[in-house]
Amino acid sequence: MGMSERINEIRTILTNELEQAETTQLLDNLRVRILGKKGELTALLRGMGQLSPEERPQAGQLINEARESFTAMLDEKLAVLKAKEREEALKREAIDVTQPVDLPAEGGEHPITLVMNEMIDCFTGMGFEVVEGPEVELDHYNFELMNIPKNHPARDAQDTFYIDDNIVLRTHTSPIQARTMLSRKPPIRVICPGRVYRADEMDATHSPVFHQMEGLVVDKDVNMADLRGTLNAFAERIYGKGITTRFRPSFFPFTEPSTEVDLTCAACHGKGCRVCKGTGWIEVLGGGMVNPKVLADCGIDPEIYSGFAFGIGLERIAMQRYSIPDLRLLYEGDVRFLNQFR
Ligand code: DAH
Repeated sequence: MGMSERINEIRTILTNELEQAETTQLLDNLRVRILGKKGELTALLRGMGQLSPEERPQAGQLINEARESFTAMLDEKLAVLKAKEREEALKREAIDVTQPVDLPAEGGEHPITLVMNEMIDCFTGMGFEVVEGPEVELDHYNFELMNIPKNHPARDAQDTFYIDDNIVLRTHTSPIQARTMLSRKPPIRVICPGRVYRADEMDATHSPVFHQMEGLVVDKDVNMADLRGTLNAFAERIYGKGITTRFRPSFFPFTEPSTEVDLTCAACHGKGCRVCKGTGWIEVLGGGMVNPKVLADCGIDPEIYSGFAFGIGLERIAMQRYSIPDLRLLYEGDVRFLNQFR
């Protein structure tokens, strides 16, 4: 058989097989079968040794032309198959972006955290610094240095969680006052937010754990008017314009004089409503001038320095702020409630 016939035979095989090749893998096999090292066309090239020297150039040219044309045929089909496979892959891997999905539940800040951060913003804006103290506290700081005497009812085991005779779960954030005065020199201007504990049964207005924010300022010539101005600024910042304070005389062992502080009822702006029981005022915090005995016990000379202090209950602020009727809602972790604050 002559060279051209043999080449035509291979071309026929290739043409037939190309039609059958449905995948790039099969096409690859075909390429090897024709053009590979042991392929059919390559065999012709090997067989050239048996030709006469005169026949060789022409045969060589025929084989080379065939190789080029076969390669082109294979490449053409390859392009077609690749495009097809790509399209199939796109179809297979397609994502329906319109399909509804279950997003993971998104968390949010707890109303107590919201109120606490807002208050921290307010006071740090006035130059206060945030300091913290331990929740498991020595009796010494929680009571003794706060001038709360041994027989004071607050010390009763019915009101206080005792770890042992000397260690309690702090019943207020006031002990941080003592810790701060003992470790710093005036001028002192701090707020102390945190959890506090009392041995109370849980009900709509009581919880064995709740939150306070203590404030303390100690410097020369600090007076009650400074406390008033500070708390008025706080009231407006948290509840809005027109909200002010009312001071009522009170008693705390660690302040002298002491005051109970009411804020204008934000629900009725002082007109009197159900929230404030018709009085126009809401009791929000306690405060006063730091008792000179407390200053002295904490290493600060009351002849030179004076100070004011206050303690704010965060639950009460949050409940008023968001019209939350029952304290327990803040502690039950019901997502239907919490979702409202996201
Ligand atoms: N420690 C008080 C309490 O837990 C709150 C308080 C009242 C704090 C007056 C103060 C203050 O700093 O001056 O009820």
